[in-house]
Amino acid sequence: MNTHKTRIAVFCSGSGSNFKALFHAIRNKHLPTEIVLCLSNRAQCGAMEFAQQNGIATVHITEKQFDSFDKFASAMIGRMKEHQVDIILLAGYMRKVPDAIVAAFPERMLNIHPALLPKFGGDGMYGIHVHTAVLEAGETETGATVHFVNEEYDKGAILLQRTVPILPDDTPETLAARVLECEHALYPDALEKLLTLQRS
Ligand code: GRF
Repeated sequence: MNTHKTRIAVFCSGSGSNFKALFHAIRNKHLPTEIVLCLSNRAQCGAMEFAQQNGIATVHITEKQFDSFDKFASAMIGRMKEHQVDIILLAGYMRKVPDAIVAAFPERMLNIHPALLPKFGGDGMYGIHVHTAVLEAGETETGATVHFVNEEYDKGAILLQRTVPILPDDTPETLAARVLECEHALYPDALEKLLTLQRS
């Protein structure tokens, strides 16, 4: 029997609420996987704190620590090898992932985006800007998307998507909170789907 657990690195820059949701879902659903690394461009943030409290290895790495982008990318790849990472999950990672990493993880890197891609994605579409744009466009529903990562922001193939209603008195903030709640269930479901695809 193959007892190898898929080894996950989560890349984060912020509060890490998706990271926490993934961590708990993996346990509760007994998924054959484990989060072995939290990588961040910030030395301290909610995600890094949570990782430290839960015995997950952390890596703080930024471009600024290296004298070229290529060296930064090589160091990142080195870290993935060191921790024998099989899958990378981007969860609020606010930096560009070097193309060399994307190339090294074909069909093995996912991102979550707080809208129904391909709408409301790409440059400048992050955080509250997404929900402001959705409301300004007069949409009747929004949602969240988990997609594979390729070299273009928010353009990789969609793995799983779920809609979220927009209510008449929504502000960008109330909408953001409702979409985030949806993300917390969607990302674990997308991970489960990816694991099933990989094992079939
Ligand atoms: C989420 O809305 C996610 O869709 C986006 O960044 C946010 C991260 O939030 N990519 P958190 O750090 O997981 O709370």
